[in-house]
Order: sequence, then C-alpha cells, then structure tokens
Amino acid sequence: MRPDQIRIVEVGPRDGLQNEAQPLTPQERVALIEQLADAGLRDIEAGSFVSPRWVPQMAGSDEVLIALSERKDLRLPVLVPNKKGYELSRVAGAREIAVFGAASETFSQRNINCSIADSLARFGEVCALAKADGVVIRGYISCVLGCPYEGSVDIAQVARLAAQLAEMGCSEISLGDTIGVGTPDKARALTKACASEVGLDNLSVHFHDTYGQALANILACIEIGVTSVDAAVGGLGGCPYASGSAGNVATEDVVYLLEGLGINCSADLEQLVTITESLSHRLGHPPASRVARAQLAKRA
Ligand code: HMG
Ligand code: MG
Repeated sequence: MRPDQIRIVEVGPRDGLQNEAQPLTPQERVALIEQLADAGLRDIEAGSFVSPRWVPQMAGSDEVLIALSERKDLRLPVLVPNKKGYELSRVAGAREIAVFGAASETFSQRNINCSIADSLARFGEVCALAKADGVVIRGYISCVLGCPYEGSVDIAQVARLAAQLAEMGCSEISLGDTIGVGTPDKARALTKACASEVGLDNLSVHFHDTYGQALANILACIEIGVTSVDAAVGGLGGCPYASGSAGNVATEDVVYLLEGLGINCSADLEQLVTITESLSHRLGHPPASRVARAQLAKRA
C-alpha cells in the first residue's frame, strides 16, 4: 500500500512567508523559488492573489509569477479567493490556482470574510473561468481536524466539501490541518472518508506541526496510499487567522522521513538545509525544522 514515490508540494514561499513578520521582496521570493527548484522540487506554491491589506506579505505575487514565466518545468500554483484574484493571477500568467475554503464557519469568516456557502459560490465562479481557460485548480480545505474557534470538526462535513470542490473542477484537494491538532488515527480516518468521495489520487495532505504530530500523521496517510504531501522549507509558516498555529511540516523533515522509508521524492536534502540556513538568517529566527537544525549543527 505504501507508495514508492511521493510528490512534495512546496508551500514555503506562500504558506510559509505569509506569516513572517519580516516580509521578503518579490525578487527575494523569486530567488527562493529558483533555489527550491534547483533542489529538485517541481510543485512550488508561488504566492497569493488576495487583498494586500489582509496579507501584505504576499503583495507583489504578480511580479513573482511574471519573473518565473519561463519556468514551464515548474508547477507554480497561486492562491485565489475570488474572481478579482483570479483575473489578477491570469494577467500575471498563472497556469495553476488554488481556491481555499474551510471546514468551519468561523474560520471561513475570519480568513476570507464570508460563509462556507458563499465561499463555494465564489469558488464555483472562479473554477468555471479556470476550466474554460485550461487552468489547473487545486482546492484547499482548512481546519480539517480542528478549528481554532469552534474546536472539533465533523469528518463527514470535510468529505462533503471535498466532493463539492472536486465537482467544481479541483483536480487535487489539499486537506489542511491548519492548527496542527490532528493525530494519526484521525488523520487516516479523515483521509479515507475524503478518498471515498474524490479518490485517493486526488488528495494531498497538509499538516502543521503545532503539536509535533505532523510526521506521524503523514506516515499514517502514506501507509494508506496518499502520494502527495504539502510541506514548507524550514517548517516556515502558520496562519494569520489561526493564532498559536505553528508552521507547516518542514520539507527537510519530510524528505528525511521518506529517504528513511526508501520512498523517492526527488528533492535534495543537503540543498534544502542550505536554503533553510540562509532563510533563517534573513528572517531572523532559527529554523523550526529538526532535520535542518541537526544537520546545521553537524556542519558547524
Ligand atoms: P473583503 O474585504 O470581504 O473583500 O475581503 P471585498 O470584496 O469587500 O473587497 C474589499 C477590498 O479588497 C476592495 O478594495 C477589493 O477590490 C479588494 P477597495 O475597493 O476597498 O480598495 N479585493 C482584492 N484585492 C486584491 N486581490 C483580491 C481582492 N478581492 C477583493 N483577490 C478577501 C475578502 C477574500 C479579499 C480577503 O478576506 C482576503 O484577501 N483574505 C485572504 C486571506 C488569506 O490569504 N489567508 C491566508 C491563506 S489561507 C491559509 O493559510 C490556509 C491554507 O494554507 C491551508 C492550511 O494551512 O490549512 C490554505
Ligand atoms: Mg498551511
């Protein structure tokens, strides 16, 4: 059941940097994406076409995409919350977008200022345009294993949302444990429930490491056949609308786990650690990645 190949979706330049106090310029974000590509990653979330008043760190995502327009070898999804974001992303040349909904009403309101039902209506509109343009669509569901405002979340509700997003045209649904509260049995049960709606091959798992469970959850999910895993270099991130939420699982930590399991993911661990080292100097804090910390101590 365990796959022999995992696709890593690198979300550091978006999900990671959106929560950093120290914003990186668009040029620095382009350089980071190029470095991540040099390290072997091919799916790299490049930015967000959201309101710069809501998330100033992602301002200039159009410049990032334009600067990378020749990189046809990369998949560079960008977050799009509504028609305005979609149109701006297309002007910048987006070939892949991600709509992002939530499994909890309160989180939906805090994150995108509308109810779940209204968000689905907006995504429906965006997806129809994207499908007509031949743009690939990813669909996120946040708070799949718990909400910072409402607590527990109903797995059946998440599975229904996954089905609705797939119906609209999302070719991959990313299941986001935004506040990192999940544990392996729950993560596995959730993934199975969603897989029965949209198929395992159309799911990605997106764990934050707030409670130190991210790698255990990833292992539980790949044991049942999940082949796509979201991660952020250095373990960057958090969510601006989920206070106390720690970063995404670190790409280095996932790569180390996969190497130990003999699973290929075509990413170079040494290069990722080097990227994390320079990012941590730039951002002014040590990396969250345990693997990066261990390897950097060894290098020193
Ligand atoms: P709103 O205030 O309700 O929007 O925000 P509005 O339609 O009333 O418009 C207000 C103003 O925003 C207008 O400008 C619009 O033009 C502008 P004004 O006339 O006042 O000058 N506007 C926009 N500007 C740029 N791009 C746009 C856009 N839309 C409207 N797309 C909105 C609604 C969705 C825009 C806002 O709530 C928003 O930007 N939210 C973004 C939240 C966000 O990015 N959160 C982080 C990502 S989610 C996440 O991290 C979780 C995830 O990683 C999964 C996980 O970790 O589990 C995905
Ligand atoms: Mg995230």
